[in-house]
Amino acid sequence: MSTPTKLYEGKAKILYTTDDPGVLLTQFKDDATAFNAQKKGTIAGKGEINCTISQHLFQLLERQGIPTHFIDCPSASTMRVKAVKIIPLEVVVRNIAAGSLCQQTGLALGTVLNPPLVEFYYKNDALGDPLLTIDRLRMMALATPEQVEQLRSMALKINVLLTDFFQRCAITLVDFKLEFGMEGEQLLLADEISPDTCRLWDQADTDPDRRVMDKDRFRRDLGGVEQAYQHVLERVLAQITPV
Ligand code: TMP
Repeated sequence: MSTPTKLYEGKAKILYTTDDPGVLLTQFKDDATAFNAQKKGTIAGKGEINCTISQHLFQLLERQGIPTHFIDCPSASTMRVKAVKIIPLEVVVRNIAAGSLCQQTGLALGTVLNPPLVEFYYKNDALGDPLLTIDRLRMMALATPEQVEQLRSMALKINVLLTDFFQRCAITLVDFKLEFGMEGEQLLLADEISPDTCRLWDQADTDPDRRVMDKDRFRRDLGGVEQAYQHVLERVLAQITPV
């Protein structure tokens, strides 16, 4: 077996080659960043937690007909994935107004969005991942019009499935970010789905700070970051394998 070569190191994950050119190995890190890496820190145990949560969510989505890049997890913090050509878009689905939506529109935190909002951001750290209009997206040829419609409909279907799953965990799925890639002609859900990439509110608590179970605890210095991630993991595992 040849030694894995580091292909790319991102803010939260490292990507390695494997013996099979169609397969990559992802190492989930404990490192955390926010505000385009202006804020840096560590969340102890995050790598294992996010890898495990992502594994279960990818498997759940696969069972419901959403093709993903997930293959398996050789260890708690590593995931083997299909090698895909990442589409440079971040697809955000919002069920409830929070974060940049409130900052940019003045909408009150917690406003229910019905139907859910689907947004496309340009995945480009140097530019700070700007929000795109559909016309800009077309002009820049970041995805074909057919791909854009496919991304939107997959994102909305994933939203229905994840909202229903988190509801069973007594967690409200406020919003989340997805990334997609192409394996030949097939569009696959890629990256991760974790408390780093979702806003998750504990339904057992209405306090606007205490209910936060996601990376907003780190972004906003709310404390209890590790515990919140651990609680999400425990609830996900309890739903996947009911005791
Ligand atoms: P936003 O409100 O800051 O635009 O974030 C929307 C959702 O996207 C939220 O669930 C967090 C997630 N997200 C990421 O996964 N990566 C990012 O770089 C950003 C800005 C947001």
